[in-house]
Amino acid sequence: MIPLVVVTCTLAAVVTAYTDIRHKRFMIKNIDPIVYPGQYRSHMHSFFGSDAVTKDLSTTAELQKGCASGENPNDLSVYCKPSIPSWKSTKGIPTLYYVRGPNDFVEVNPGMFSTYYENIDKAEIPYPQDFFAIAGNATARSQSDVNEGTTGLTWWCENGPEDRQNRNRALMPRVTCSGNIQVILRFPDCVKTSNIKNYAYAAANGGRCPAGMKRVPQLRFSVRYNVRSLIPKGWSGAPPLKLACGEVGEGYCFHGDFINGWFDDAQKNLLKATSRNQWLRVDGARGEGKAGTTCGPKDREPTKGTSDYITSVDMMTMS
Ligand SMILES: *[C@@H]1O[C@H](CO)[C@@H](O)[C@H](O)[C@H]1NC(C)=O
Repeated sequence: MIPLVVVTCTLAAVVTAYTDIRHKRFMIKNIDPIVYPGQYRSHMHSFFGSDAVTKDLSTTAELQKGCASGENPNDLSVYCKPSIPSWKSTKGIPTLYYVRGPNDFVEVNPGMFSTYYENIDKAEIPYPQDFFAIAGNATARSQSDVNEGTTGLTWWCENGPEDRQNRNRALMPRVTCSGNIQVILRFPDCVKTSNIKNYAYAAANGGRCPAGMKRVPQLRFSVRYNVRSLIPKGWSGAPPLKLACGEVGEGYCFHGDFINGWFDDAQKNLLKATSRNQWLRVDGARGEGKAGTTCGPKDREPTKGTSDYITSVDMMTMS
């Protein structure tokens, strides 16, 4: 009996308090409102969340006027990931491409894009108004440029086979996945309330926020790409997949942006998801947390910028 108790306690300690939201991509565009506000000069990004996002860095209030592509009508945050292949990109959030030929890039639209909120029991405050953060390193070219200890960044075959013992953990799998390819990325969970541009990882500071910072829920991106339908014959070695920011088969430069669009009343409920072993739906005045999107999110400025990879590279060269 005693060993059983020990095992139970150990398991309870590793399960983190959480909730999650699923999102549909509604736009691909050569903008990065955090890194290049006001400009059409970024590599391509995929956008999820509030469709009020434009090239300009939005406030929380502006995002809340938009339509959410996620299933929770109380979360008008914007989530982006890098989109189109670019050899000149410096920063942003990349989209994944299937490299079908030398100049033939087919966008891989994630089958599932989920945002998890974890360690909520450790959070001291909700996300401040107008908070935004970047996770990952858009210029990373090797495993040593990646900090898995803070960001958790790793790529693997969701349903096996597991090959990370034979490769760097932020490379894409070197074996054909039996199902989806999955990648995860954790966001900073400490913020200075007097200057919200100042944020950090508790994991980089012995599990506590640095002095003067407060702990917020930890956002984690989880992206699943159904590459089996695109590449039915599979691969051996580097897969013919390329992030907008990196080289074929490499996943080092994967990164993400988050701009807070949560309504205050729903964030109060988000902070209640503190159970270590029970998932909680986050409801709010605008609906149930799994109500789904009905407003038809779309690009608000369809004539501005580009969703074409080659054009986006030209636009980066011109600026
Ligand atoms: C990001 O990657 C670059 C390589 O392009 C590296 O020099 C830098 O140290 C990395 N940044 C971090 C925080 O690891």
